Amino acid sequence: MTPVTASDVERHLQSMFIDAAGTSLRREDLKKAVEVAALLDELGRLGRRGPLVDVAAGKAYLGLLAVELLGFEQLVIIERNPARLADARHAMTRLTRAANITLQQGDVGDRALWPGEPSAVVALHACGPASDAVIDATIGSEAKWLLLVPCCYSAEVPFFAAAQAHAERLGLPRHAEVQKRFVQSLIDAERTLRLEAAGWETTVVPFVAPTVTPHNLLFRARRVREPRRMAEAARRREQLVSGGEERLEQAP
Ligand SMILES: C[S@@+](CC[C@H](N)C(=O)[O-])C[C@H]1O[C@@H](n2cnc3c(N)ncnc32)[C@H](O)[C@@H]1O
Repeated sequence: MTPVTASDVERHLQSMFIDAAGTSLRREDLKKAVEVAALLDELGRLGRRGPLVDVAAGKAYLGLLAVELLGFEQLVIIERNPARLADARHAMTRLTRAANITLQQGDVGDRALWPGEPSAVVALHACGPASDAVIDATIGSEAKWLLLVPCCYSAEVPFFAAAQAHAERLGLPRHAEVQKRFVQSLIDAERTLRLEAAGWETTVVPFVAPTVTPHNLLFRARRVREPRRMAEAARRREQLVSGGEERLEQAP
């Protein structure tokens, strides 16, 4: 399949989501086009037996362009903001390809909104604890793939307080920027190990340049359920969660 380019995405953002004479894409739309193109490129390499789920979807640029440009035939969009969902509904009328699309208004953590066994879950810039809810719901739904790009790291993130306590225990200086990077890294570590312990082989990579977005880490996870890998991740996660008191070399 020919890779989707940022200019393909720009054209479709204009025609499906903006489409007013005389308007052009703003600077942030151009950056969004780069991010969406990079994730569509990832999605294009995955299988599609089962629905695609776009969560914390906003206007569902990603999900709807996966239908239009990659030919996904089943899409579930989950978003709590009704105005954004209305924009997604409007953009659906501009699709040139037929697809079975369900719009779900509500919280990403509400499992009733999720289909069973999605082929892939995508979440671009899932804010704060929404990323954790996406991870848990992905595991619960038995999705084959997850492409998750977390966004801000607020105090509502479940591992935030524990990560700050680790920083304090290790005697890190209280300089905000130093603490922030350390805490974010521990949060990402816990998320990675949670996915791995549940059986999702996970790679964490920058998917676009940091000049496009500072929130440029992609968690690419695939359900493989490899028992040894799961056990090792569970042991490491336990160590992380318990504050590192159990030493790695003492583990069996
Ligand atoms: C930063 S925007 C990203 C939107 C879209 N994925 C994109 O990249 O254009 C995050 C979106 O997630 C939604 N959101 C945040 N937390 C959510 C939650 N717990 N449940 C459902 N939607 C949520 C917000 O309403 C917002 O539309």
